[in-house]
Amino acid sequence: MTAAPVLVVAAALVDDLAAPSALLAARRCTPAALAGRWEFPGGKVEPGEPPRDALRREIREELGVEIRLGAELVGPAEGAWPLARPYVLRLWLAAVVGGTPRPLVEHDELRWLPAGRWHDVPWLDADLPILTALVGAVVPR
Ligand code: CDP
Repeated sequence: MTAAPVLVVAAALVDDLAAPSALLAARRCTPAALAGRWEFPGGKVEPGEPPRDALRREIREELGVEIRLGAELVGPAEGAWPLARPYVLRLWLAAVVGGTPRPLVEHDELRWLPAGRWHDVPWLDADLPILTALVGAVVPR
């Protein structure tokens, strides 16, 4: 039997929602298996919690900032992006509207990656196809 999917939500935090240039990557320090790899910050949706509310909550908890959500980068599996089972991920573009992001919980470093350099850190394997799709969707060529 396959376990029911567990929804994770994450943010592609950019400097400007209308014309994204820099993208925020967050380096995980936990769990050990993921430490040192970079990701779109976010986390699990609580039972009954609207996904966008969960994303604002997770970013507040993890980075200490308020965000405004932009468009969703819709994934290939019923709108979501497959992660390692049982997780699936939904991702929204977002911008910081209050505060300065700091690594508070499960990250030990944050980095604003400039345009053209979004692949420059070792992303989680699961986040790489999402990053590639994001680059195709938002960066002018
Ligand atoms: O923060 P919370 O504990 O709610 O969730 P998490 O540990 O950040 O994420 C749950 C799972 O989703 C973990 O296995 C992460 O590796 C995975 N994940 C991911 O693959 N890519 C992301 N951008 C965020 C989470």
